[in-house]
Amino acid sequence: MRRKLAAGNWKMHGLGADLAEATALSLAHPAPGCDILLCPPATLISRMAATLGQSPVAVGGQDCHATDKGAHTGDVAAAMLADAGATHVILGHSERRADHGESDAQVAAKAAAAQGAGLTAIVCLGETEAQRDAGETLAVVGRQLEGSLPAGATAANTVIAYEPVWAIGTGRTPTEEQIAEVHAALRAGLARLLPAEAAGIRLLYGGSVKPANAAAIFAVPDVDGALVGGASLKAVDFSAIIAALETAPPA
Ligand code: PGA
Repeated sequence: MRRKLAAGNWKMHGLGADLAEATALSLAHPAPGCDILLCPPATLISRMAATLGQSPVAVGGQDCHATDKGAHTGDVAAAMLADAGATHVILGHSERRADHGESDAQVAAKAAAAQGAGLTAIVCLGETEAQRDAGETLAVVGRQLEGSLPAGATAANTVIAYEPVWAIGTGRTPTEEQIAEVHAALRAGLARLLPAEAAGIRLLYGGSVKPANAAAIFAVPDVDGALVGGASLKAVDFSAIIAALETAPPA
């Protein structure tokens, strides 16, 4: 059975003072019934990992470079994230795909680098509003899935996050039927691409997950957790989402 995962993406938010939110979260969930992950900006990874110590709340990065070192000013290698205390890394987030022109092939190369450093990659994909309106959602996410997964992807080193671009930071979410349709298609796509691993790979939903809608989203078949942006910044909000995930039916 897949263990559920609540992953928080702090994006470009967070200074040292905000580590108090991570501490509060870990105190609220000393023995959680799901995996919990916080992905702060790179500047906070090592401090957050040190602050959390042996707590069950894991720490992750938000991006990594595809190579292990070199002349890439401003970039961070997967091994550096691991060295700083990260166990996971978000890759191919739509903001990276849009702001930095990341292609599926680049995301796959980054995921391969993450694997090499012993990190679990949370590979993000999702359609734009125009693509959904054009009826292209399943084709788009199917293409992204196939193109963004490296050889060697396993249930242990890979998580998929379905994040419709139009739902991120907007307060709008797909219907439960729409989420179910995409997650079923992703599970089927995984069964074709990685038959031995597909049943174990966790599929997260992301995009405007809040305490108020979390339980309904977590009741959707094949939703193994969430990638949460804005509502992960405050421990009280993220904690309510985690509580909903802990009591959700098995996916
Ligand atoms: P949001 O962001 O929860 O603020 O919509 C989700 C994400 O981008 O991962």
